[in-house]
Amino acid sequence: MKVLVTGGAGYIGLHAAAALLENGHEAVLLDNLSNASPGATSALAGLAGRTAPFLKGDVRDSRFLDGVFEGGGFDAVMHLAALKSVDESVENPLRYYANNMAGTVSLLQRMAAHGVRTLIFSSSATVYRDSPELLTETLPTEPSSPYGRVKLFEEEILRDVHAADPEWRISILRYFNAVGAHPSGLIGEDPTRTSTNLLPRIGQVALGLRERLEVFGDDNPTPDGTCVRDYLHVMDLANAHIAALEFLRPEPRLAVHNLGTGRGHSVLELIRAFERASGRTVPFRIVTRRAGDAPISRADPARARAELGWTATRGLDRICADQWRFLSSHPNGFPE
Ligand code: WQD
Repeated sequence: MKVLVTGGAGYIGLHAAAALLENGHEAVLLDNLSNASPGATSALAGLAGRTAPFLKGDVRDSRFLDGVFEGGGFDAVMHLAALKSVDESVENPLRYYANNMAGTVSLLQRMAAHGVRTLIFSSSATVYRDSPELLTETLPTEPSSPYGRVKLFEEEILRDVHAADPEWRISILRYFNAVGAHPSGLIGEDPTRTSTNLLPRIGQVALGLRERLEVFGDDNPTPDGTCVRDYLHVMDLANAHIAALEFLRPEPRLAVHNLGTGRGHSVLELIRAFERASGRTVPFRIVTRRAGDAPISRADPARARAELGWTATRGLDRICADQWRFLSSHPNGFPE
């Protein structure tokens, strides 16, 4: 298949493109480079013996998209282009509505106009209401930030689009915590970019780019008091996108799947695993809890296993080893 990957120069987009190439598909990357470097896309060339063309542009620009789709011959779109900071979305919600939601609407309009009606949509575990139990797709949704609400509204838009035209094939993938890097060490999450996420920050400390990690609270109702998350290797996540494409192939439908492992690890466990993998010490101090942080968040991956035939296979040690392989060979990130 020939697949357009929006957000294709970003962390998850690059790995999704790698999975496409490794599985014999064609990928075209589209990105406005608001949080990515063009150098990242060139790195893909070393992976599968061929590269993915890169187009710089914005999904809100309908004339640009018309040019992309005309003669593009795309079978499907993986839509990952989005702003992704929960904190920023609280401070500046309109930026998230204007960028993420309007971007998705614009993309859907141009896809419909050009007869491309197969979409894999990047959603998030933040659409759920907090619960210490495994989160299943049928549980009530209750996002706690504008970022999560926009994801949920976008899911609703997709349901309306599918109801109006059941010929659409739509896969909504709710990502839990994507971490790690491609085992080649060629692509990963650029350590020079600002991140509020845990593993990128641990990596920055190990590289000496950050003095120490701040651990947000050790008084949670969890075994060691630090928050528990479902950390998923980014190549497991990327391969789920290939499984979702296959799942949509037989007939038009709209489906929602969690992408997670079903296992939880605490912040302290992650620090220790990273220290083992890197041989570096990661100094940290405990600070107060971060507003809005759920003590525990883990996927029930049963539906993805049953329907997509997909399951995460890489554990924490592999995640940290792959992350460190990329970071130690790219301490200055990707070239601009
Ligand atoms: C993980 C754990 C923190 C940083 C968010 C979004 C989600 C998805 C992934 C999508 C938490 C703790 C973190 C630090 C820490 N984003 N932590 N010190 O909050 O589970 O999910 O990112 O694009 O939608 O909500 O991930 O990596 O920020 O935090 O102690 O410096 O690490 O408290 O328990 P989170 P995270």
